[in-house]
This record gives sequence, C-alpha cells and structure tokens, in this order.
Amino acid sequence: MKESMNTPRAVWNNQFGFMMSAAGSAVGLGNIWKFPYITGMNGGGFFVLFYLLCIVCVALPVMIAEIYIGQKSRSNAVNAFCVLEKRPSSWKIAGMMGVLATILILSFYAVVGSWIFYFLQQSIFGFERFATREGVQHLFLEMTELAWVSFGYQLVFILATFGVVAAGVTAGIERLNKTLIPGLVCIIVLLLLYSSQLSGFSQACKFLFAFNMEAFTAGGMLEAVGHSFFTVSAGVGIMITYGSYLRSDAKIAPIAGTIVIVDTLVALASGVIIFTIVFSEQAAMSEGPVLIFKTLPLLFAQIPGGQFIAVMFFLLVTFTALTSSVSLVEVPVAYLSDKGMSRKAALSSLLCCITCLSFFCFLSVSAAEPLTLFGLTVFDLFDQLSSKVLLPISGFLFVLFFGYKLKSPSPFVELYPAVWVRAIMKVTTLVVAPSAIALVAVKLLLFS
Ligand code: TRP
Repeated sequence: MKESMNTPRAVWNNQFGFMMSAAGSAVGLGNIWKFPYITGMNGGGFFVLFYLLCIVCVALPVMIAEIYIGQKSRSNAVNAFCVLEKRPSSWKIAGMMGVLATILILSFYAVVGSWIFYFLQQSIFGFERFATREGVQHLFLEMTELAWVSFGYQLVFILATFGVVAAGVTAGIERLNKTLIPGLVCIIVLLLLYSSQLSGFSQACKFLFAFNMEAFTAGGMLEAVGHSFFTVSAGVGIMITYGSYLRSDAKIAPIAGTIVIVDTLVALASGVIIFTIVFSEQAAMSEGPVLIFKTLPLLFAQIPGGQFIAVMFFLLVTFTALTSSVSLVEVPVAYLSDKGMSRKAALSSLLCCITCLSFFCFLSVSAAEPLTLFGLTVFDLFDQLSSKVLLPISGFLFVLFFGYKLKSPSPFVELYPAVWVRAIMKVTTLVVAPSAIALVAVKLLLFS
C-alpha cells in the first residue's frame, strides 16, 4: 500500500492540458459509430433531449466523483480509496475491476486500431477500391486474412500508444492530447461545413432533431443512460488517474462540465455528418465496424471530393482511438508505479501482457478457426466482460463511495458553492446516477 517515493507525482502543465486529455479519453468510437445510430433508431429529437438529461444527471456526477477521488487522494485508481479512508479499504476492489477492464479493453482496442490504420492507409493509396461493394468487402476480408500484415498494424498501434505513455504524463499524454484534440475539432468542423453542402444535410438534421414520439421507447431510454455513462469513459478509473495529476486548487465542476460539452458536441456533429452522407446517397444506416469499414467507404467513393473526406475521416477516427487507448494504459501504469515499480518496468510488463492478450483477440477474429471461450470469440468476451460487467459495477461503486463515504469535509460543499446547484447535484449523485447505472447493469446482464 506504500506510495513510491522515488519521483514526485506528475502534475498537468495546465488545466487545458487536463481538459484535453480527459476529452481525448471520452471522445472515442462510441461518439462516431454508436451515438448517431442509436439516436436515429430512437426517434431523434426526444432521444437527444433525454440523452442530454442523462449527460447532466448520470455522466457528469460520475465523472466529477472520479476526478474528485483522484484529485484528493493524489493516487491511482486502486490505492485512492485507501488513501481517502486512511486505512486499507475494500472499496479498492472497485478500482481493481477498473484496472482489469483497462487491460481487457486495450487488448481488443488494438485490433480495432489496426483496422483503422489499414483503412487510413487504403484511403490514401487504394481509394479506387472503395468504389464498389465487392472492393470494400474484399478490403475488409483482406484485412483479416492478411494475418501478418494486420497483426503488424496492431503492433504499430500498441507501440504508438505505449510510446506516448512512456514519454510521461506531461511530455507524452498531455502534449499528444493538446495537439490531437484541437486537430480533431478542426477536422469535425471541416467535415460539418462540407456536409452542409450535400443534398442530404437538411434531411439529416430533421431526422436527428425532429421529435418522433413513437420511436422513443423505454428501451431507448435505457440505451441513452448506458451510452451517456460509456461515452465519458466512466467506470475504469481513468478520471481518477488523470484527476490525481490535477493541481489541488483546480475547480473540478466547471472542468468536468467543459469535458462533457466537448464530448456531446462531437457526438452530435458526428451524427449530422454521418447521416448527411448516408442520406445524400440514399444508403441504409448501420453502426459499429460495419458503419465505418463497410458503409461509409462505399459512400465516400460516391460523393465529390470523397478521397479527401475519407482521409480526413479516418484521420479523425485514428486520433480518437489513439487518445482513448493512451488513457487506458495510464491507469495500470499509475497503479504499478505507485506500488513501487519504476515506470519503465511497469510499461514493459504491460506491453508484454497487452501484446499477448491482443494476439489472442486478433486470432479470434482472423483465424479460419476462431478462438472461442464460453461460446464467444475472445474479442467479444473481452468486450462484453468489460462493458457489461466491470464498467457498470465499478462506476456504480465509485459514485457510491464519493456520495456516501466521503463525509468531512463534504465534497458537495466544496464542489458546489451555490446552494441550489448543490441541492441538484446531491439528488443526481446520491439517487439518480446510482439507480440509473444499476438499472442499466441489470438490463445489460440479463437481457443482452
Ligand atoms: N468513451 C469512449 C467512447 O465514447 C469509450 C470508452 C469507454 C472508453 N470506456 C473507455 C475509451 C475507457 C477509453 C477508455 O467511445
């Protein structure tokens, strides 16, 4: 339980650096490949409004709870609970589940990362292959069949991620995010301007923001709660870890507010861009890898200036994947180095572990005989175990610890000087967020 005394704890150069790094973790594939789809399927306008409510009532309280735990304890996602309770605490199990989740997520994220790299490369050098359905189909197959090539891309993705984290919290993670997140915003604005010139733009806006009550169901509401929680990368201890590098006088509430606003704007903009492209070509909407690697490439080949747009789009996806995976690595690295391991040793052992695990994920999606465990491919098993089991449980415990265990001084008094804000945040943190997360967890475990 001892904190390592070798080096003083890193501190972000400024609040902007922290904000960009946290936004880099939050803005991810979920914003691009999931949000537009679930919004479209659940009737647009009402879903968006309800989603915004979930962002304020569920995502924001959990995010503030995690950052606060990190900032106050100045420790990693596991040890933070013991520091705050001033004794060995069983709450650290929540942090351990978070650390385990980061390792599982990283392992399959690397596979997706390799697909993204491959499509970025193809949009530059093999764009003519996007022109036909067969061409795109073939590209996707080739990527999984050209085993060594795609494993090579996977290694590049892993090494790039670890390389950034190895450079350190400020010189690596902060610098990367301060560069890539403004770059990502520029690309989004460019794509938004471009899509406003396409024929499907107004139809897309209407579809996303018009109020269609019939399509908005109880299932959609749960989907909104679950996604709001997932989109801010809650429940893995990233915000605890990043929060532990925050200066003790930094004001958490406005910072967290800005991060969720950036995340929400990126999701809404992605929705407009993707629906515009889909509607302009009268194509069918899809989600996940199918949207990014099958539907969109075909459409890029049809629209004017498509190659440039394709390159920009895959660059955008590359940025979001890299900034998210960097945040994932920092959680176990901070844990191991606080335990007394040197950062170098922590990084090397994690690098070996992730390379091996991600190799199994890779085998499970590309080998002729997919590697399965409990009836699922290793890739799906890691995905489901983390997103359906570990994330909701630890997110739930983080917010309970923050709300019910931290008493003197009261975090609510410290965080929310305005009495009415404090009253609202007390209700959302103590009642709304934990019950909403519990509902989603039950639904995920029992019904999907
Ligand atoms: N927030 C990411 C997204 O919106 C997904 C995500 C969830 C994530 N948990 C994470 C990313 C942990 C990195 C680390 O796509």
